[in-house]
Amino acid sequence: MTNQVTVVGLGPMGATMAERFLDAGYDVTVWNRTASKAAPLVARGARPAERPTGDLMVISQLNYRAMYDSLAGVDLKGKVLVNLSSDSPKVLREAASWVAGQGGVLVTAGIMVPPPGIGQPGSYAFYSGPGEVIERHSQTLRALGDVVDVGTDPGLAMLYYQAQLYVFWSTLTSFMHATALLGSAGVKPGQGLPYFKETVGLLASDGPMGFLQQLSDEIEAGEYPGELNSMHMMAVGAEHALDAFRDAGLETTMPEALKALFERTDREGHGADGLGAVIEMIKKP
Ligand SMILES: NC(=O)c1ccc[n+]([C@@H]2O[C@H](COP(=O)([O-])OP(=O)(O)OC[C@H]3O[C@@H](n4cnc5c(N)ncnc54)[C@H](OP(=O)(O)O)[C@@H]3O)[C@@H](O)[C@H]2O)c1
Repeated sequence: MTNQVTVVGLGPMGATMAERFLDAGYDVTVWNRTASKAAPLVARGARPAERPTGDLMVISQLNYRAMYDSLAGVDLKGKVLVNLSSDSPKVLREAASWVAGQGGVLVTAGIMVPPPGIGQPGSYAFYSGPGEVIERHSQTLRALGDVVDVGTDPGLAMLYYQAQLYVFWSTLTSFMHATALLGSAGVKPGQGLPYFKETVGLLASDGPMGFLQQLSDEIEAGEYPGELNSMHMMAVGAEHALDAFRDAGLETTMPEALKALFERTDREGHGADGLGAVIEMIKKP
């Protein structure tokens, strides 16, 4: 473990990460393309750098292009880079090879909290790359939240991150569609809210509405029982939902996509199966 860490990128995320490292007593060096953003951190004791430097560099920028731009000409021999920026898994894998080619090691990461959550109880980030390097720096990285090592494939951290983000975005966007649908008949958001809270909570429970667990088990087994609620019934129901959005004069991108996916599942031989059969369509576009 080292007592020194460099933070590269001082947007809302990187600046907060630098603060958490300062709080934890680290010797913090900071670098940002727009140098003026370092001033509040320097006032708190961070060292400003002319160029990204240091044995352990924690990077948080818009994307991996920013990392290439920032590190052009920097000697990476023996350096460990931990990049918590967003990009595609493919770009992360290519970046790990590029850093290795420069004599350094890249640990990729996806952090699961917004700036105020960094380092707070319950916060965590997915990390992928060489396990011994993640382990060696885990105490330092814990200043940002729990360290979840998901494996050596450098694309994995971003796959886990994007999988979570996808559930987050699509769940909340469907909540907004649903709130607008109720709103079209004068129902206030707060009037629908208790039922949405109930549904979201129950989906993660172990009861009869505990569909996350049930579908996960079904997908592992490759069997999707549908005697009690068939895919055909749900495809027809999804059409009714789309009609409701159209009749209310609302935007219909997500309801249309849902209907199309359910109808295809029904059409391609899964009409008598349950909801889990949708994954077969997702795996075969
Ligand atoms: N904000 C969130 O809630 C959140 C949560 C989880 C993950 N993330 C991820 O964390 C990363 C950072 O997010 P953020 O919200 O802090 O802000 P951001 O707007 O995504 O990134 C801002 C940082 O990127 C730098 N940058 C952009 N292009 C650059 C380039 N070509 N060369 C050098 N530096 C460049 C900016 O430098 P300048 O200051 O010079 O412009 C700034 O330091 C993103 O990948 C984001 O997806 C964000």
